[in-house]
Amino acid sequence: MLSNIFIPPSILKSFDKNQESAVSVCKRAKYFGFKKIGYGAYTETYANPNYSFVIKINLTSDPAAFKFYSMIMNTKSKYFPKVLKLKSYVDLGGNFLFIAFIEKLYPLNWDTWKKANKDGRGFTNWLAIQDSYINIRNITYKKLGKAWESNNTAEVKIFSSIVSATSEFSELDLHEDNLMMRLPEGDIILNDPVAPLI
Ligand SMILES: Nc1ncnc2c1ncn2[C@@H]1O[C@H](COP(=O)(O)OP(=O)(O)O)[C@@H](O)[C@H]1O
Ligand SMILES: [Mg+2]
Repeated sequence: MLSNIFIPPSILKSFDKNQESAVSVCKRAKYFGFKKIGYGAYTETYANPNYSFVIKINLTSDPAAFKFYSMIMNTKSKYFPKVLKLKSYVDLGGNFLFIAFIEKLYPLNWDTWKKANKDGRGFTNWLAIQDSYINIRNITYKKLGKAWESNNTAEVKIFSSIVSATSEFSELDLHEDNLMMRLPEGDIILNDPVAPLI
């Protein structure tokens, strides 16, 4: 189902300019009817109700995030966002930045957590063992986390590969805002696991 997400070629092509300001990249998303639905310290994310993908625009250099998206592009893991296209641009100050076209996901909150599937709950409990900032529903079920770990050795490997490939310039940034949900499947997605060292 995910592989069917359609990105109009005219939209994709319009983001092929090499050097321009982050502001004009964001303006282009707006021109195509996308509105800002979220942001972090380094990115703004734009969505359009007619499409099942979002455009995540990197405004401030974040090589760890770029590496994360390029690494997960080819995984089939359901625990990471599906990156449909990854483009880069250089802003007027010479910073190397990215534009990622990603499947549309949903925030994790009290309401959506009820829809989390069994694997997603196991994964969240496993993440909570890795970092106490993940504290979903205030309780960590270590047993559930450990059970998930023994059934998902490939995912554990992907996770530790991402951590070691980015550790030179970033650290783990696990908190619930960086988890999202894939609906209606109920998958829990590790959306934004690393943040630059400040
Ligand atoms: N794939 C997505 N689908 C829907 N909203 C998203 C998606 N990715 C990011 N967002 C929105 O943007 C916000 C910030 O995203 P995040 O990945 O944490 O960015 P940052 O790296 O800047 O912290 C999220 O909390 C969410 O609201
Ligand atoms: Mg974030």
